[in-house]
Amino acid sequence: MNYSNLLIENRERILYITINRESKLNALNKATLAELHDVITGSVHDDEVGGLIITGAGQKAFVAGADISEFADFNADEGRELAREGQIKVFDVIQNHSKPVIAAINGFALGGGLELAMACHIRVAASGAKMGLPEVSLGLIPGYGGTQRLTELIGKGRAMEMIMTADMINAEDAYRTGLVNHVFEADDLLTKAAELMKKIMTRSPFAVGCAIRAINAASADGINGYETEISEFSNCFGSEDFREGVAAFLGKRKAEFTGR
Ligand code: COA
Repeated sequence: MNYSNLLIENRERILYITINRESKLNALNKATLAELHDVITGSVHDDEVGGLIITGAGQKAFVAGADISEFADFNADEGRELAREGQIKVFDVIQNHSKPVIAAINGFALGGGLELAMACHIRVAASGAKMGLPEVSLGLIPGYGGTQRLTELIGKGRAMEMIMTADMINAEDAYRTGLVNHVFEADDLLTKAAELMKKIMTRSPFAVGCAIRAINAASADGINGYETEISEFSNCFGSEDFREGVAAFLGKRKAEFTGR
């Protein structure tokens, strides 16, 4: 697939995905979502990819939301389909990716843009970034998982206020409330995101994948997360990475993980 809305680059096994519709503040239209689905699903079994960093083109926006012009005349059924398809094909795929996914929020992350960032495993933000779920000011509510993931990340009371007021918060407040893990100067954002990713990539990829599944189970409906943890913990014992990690520790050397 040729991408017209994304820039894709693999540097040192980190797949950088840059949403590239700068003139529309990187708003997520249908074509962009289809491209995201393609590149993200393709990266799952690509041995050349150890982790993914998602960011937006330019200085102004990460992603300023779903493309409003595309759903302006939708009816209820079309709205349901828009949300369902987006959630299943993009947002859930990111959340359930077995490799680490970091959102580098370089500017406005609004509506679907913040929802995209919240589907990622970790968020880092530039100091000038602004985040919000302004859908109620359009007569909508978040539809790409925002009501669920924001509540999980910052708690029910804060999520209620942010969603009902449609207010944006700045990077410092996002850090304080746990919405982002770190705030960096804009010029350092990608370097710092890459440093974090590289540290994770020195650990066992097999175990990191197990950890993601176990942590995700904490908020998955109808799943006992403790049972998932037991099962994923057990899976680790069957991995080459476990043998290597323990042998390296006992041999006082650095582990060379294969992810198997
Ligand atoms: N969907 C479609 N187009 C969008 C968009 C979106 N979510 N967000 C921005 N754009 C477009 C604007 O229409 C404009 O296009 P144009 O130049 O062809 O008119 C361009 O991006 C620049 O945006 P503009 O509004 O002129 O920039 P600004 O600096 O005045 O304001 C924002 C920036 C982010 C505050 C403002 O663009 C905004 O509120 N965007 C919508 C945010 C939103 O409600 N997102 C949730 C959607 S569900």
